[in-house]
Amino acid sequence: MGKVALITGITGQDGAYLAEYLIKKGYTVHGIKRRSSMFNTDRIDHLYQDPHIEDRNLILHYGDLTDSLNLTRIIGEVQPDEIYNLAAMSHVKVSFDTPEYTANADGLGVLRILEAVRLLNLVPKSRIYQASTSELYGLVQEVPQKETTPFYPRSPYAVAKLYGYWITVNYREAYNMHASNGILFNHESPLRGETFVTRKVTRAISRIALNMQKKVYMGNLSSKRDWGHAKDYVRAMHAILQQEKPSDYVIATGITTTIRDFIQMAFAEIGVEVSFHGEGVDEVAVLRSVDEKIFKNKIGEVYLEDLKKRIGEEIVGVDPQYFRPTEVELLIGDATKARTQLGWEPQYSLETLIEDMMLSDVKLMKKESYLREGGYKILNYFE
Ligand code: NAP
Ligand code: GDD
Repeated sequence: MGKVALITGITGQDGAYLAEYLIKKGYTVHGIKRRSSMFNTDRIDHLYQDPHIEDRNLILHYGDLTDSLNLTRIIGEVQPDEIYNLAAMSHVKVSFDTPEYTANADGLGVLRILEAVRLLNLVPKSRIYQASTSELYGLVQEVPQKETTPFYPRSPYAVAKLYGYWITVNYREAYNMHASNGILFNHESPLRGETFVTRKVTRAISRIALNMQKKVYMGNLSSKRDWGHAKDYVRAMHAILQQEKPSDYVIATGITTTIRDFIQMAFAEIGVEVSFHGEGVDEVAVLRSVDEKIFKNKIGEVYLEDLKKRIGEEIVGVDPQYFRPTEVELLIGDATKARTQLGWEPQYSLETLIEDMMLSDVKLMKKESYLREGGYKILNYFE
């Protein structure tokens, strides 16, 4: 019999990659999904199996981290060997708009899972992974950040996650639970939510290249992030729960990059050079040149002339609506403990991450543009 895993947040970026990874390893994966007015299963549709199939290896349950009765029932029914608590209101800026809900889901939600395992007498059986975050370091007290670096959260999201971190440590110590925190630095992918900065950038650049959008407005261009690929990071989650003893691990690449440089690298991926000018809210990026060979290869010849006409134009601007009331300026992680104890190494570099995201978004936007164009033609035909 393979192991049984329960993933909260299975419809999110990490949940989707983790589910795929565990199924390939022979696990039966149960996932908790919130009810929504649409399916909202795009990221896991390729794994979905009809409920009438016997011996399914992916089973979804309706649930919510704010509903302890529901969580307790599902954990009792599933009897998981491993629980990955990935569900959260995960957007830092949005947490300033919905602080109470964020505290409930991201903070108390963790407690609900730990308590359910304890009350159901599953402590000897169920290992727990808590999705902790580099946002805990916030106003960083040490560079680079490691497991012993003091925390200084800078948003309602990070404060809620701080509770989640410590309640996991407390239950481990108080009740001898196999409960661990992964302190993951930013990780991205083609499945990243569209409002996180990397995906916002790769989508917008694809649209600009395909002449679907003129300009993109960003927030703080100077903050620095340690970006890895989500595929590498879900491997670390699994490895953490395979350790004999529970513990807390930083997962990071050890390389930090500004938002500004990320934008330049993503443009360069399709052969476009941009240069930044000005400061603060007046900062802009201007389209400088196009490497025709790379652009034709990555985007297509038909879009080249339109873009070349725009050389000298501003294509990136700053809109203060994207600034945060308190910002996390710098994150860079030291994953020595994970490398030595888990044998974890990232396989993707920032360059290959950007390549993966740009390839995927260009394909996606071409499809959108084609459908739009196709729709327009059909309308004309009927008129
Ligand atoms: P994500 O794409 O935003 O996914 C979050 C998941 O949580 C979604 O499936 C979402 O469901 C679900 N969810 C939200 N609120 C819920 C609730 N009240 N009850 C049940 N499910 C709920 O986030 P991610 O990037 O995969 O991140 C996974 C976890 O790691 C999160 O806890 C995040 O805070 C943490 N983390 C992420 C990073 C990163 O860089 N990605 C770094 C460190 C830590 P819907 O699909 O219905 O919205
Ligand atoms: N989202 C967004 N949109 N961020 C922008 C923008 C913009 O237009 N312009 C600049 N930024 C800056 C933000 O101010 C921040 O400094 C940085 O880009 C990264 O923002 P996000 O991609 O939204 O991620 P995050 O670092 O705030 O949070 C993510 O990583 C955490 C781990 O450190 C989320 O995935 C969290 O859930 C996760 O815990």
